Amino acid sequence: MNKYKKYYDMLEKQSIIYDKTQNCCIGQTWKHHLMPVINNAIFLAEKYGANKDIVELAAVFHDYANLIDYEDQDNHHIKGAELAKDILIGDGFDEAFVDKVCLCIKTHRASVVFNKFSIEQICVADADAKAHLDNVVELLLWRGYLKEDIQTANAFVKAKIQRSYAKMSENTKELVKSKYDAIMSILF
Ligand SMILES: [Fe+2]
Ligand SMILES: [Fe+2]
Repeated sequence: MNKYKKYYDMLEKQSIIYDKTQNCCIGQTWKHHLMPVINNAIFLAEKYGANKDIVELAAVFHDYANLIDYEDQDNHHIKGAELAKDILIGDGFDEAFVDKVCLCIKTHRASVVFNKFSIEQICVADADAKAHLDNVVELLLWRGYLKEDIQTANAFVKAKIQRSYAKMSENTKELVKSKYDAIMSILF
């Protein structure tokens, strides 16, 4: 059994509540964003030699605050780190370990550019970005569920994909370059 199942379950439950607020299909955010980010993060941690526990836990919690309070999404990287810290410290994790998890959560976003000094921070930010590219259909549908017209949805998704690609490390950019080019050739 996954040793972090408790947190996976917590996030899956919260993402179902979030899906209802976004008028999405129930389970969409878990299946097409959170799980892909977690799987990418573990894959990249193995590939780049990062600490898998730090990266996995940061990926699990990276959007937690956003799922709880979508209205305050501008601060979800900061609030998410605070929420994760309370939970993990409460569960007895070592404080220095938790600080490393929280740093990855704080620096995961593409719209707020941070210097990333650890390989774990790079893995989590790259995993989030790669998940956006891998799930571009979900992004477009989400905007449709929010009743955006085609021009607006296209512009939103295009900007998000461009930001996601821009924040990636050079190695991960190389990994996803053909997919990025394909997406850009379809969006207008
Ligand atoms: Fe996020
Ligand atoms: Fe995310």
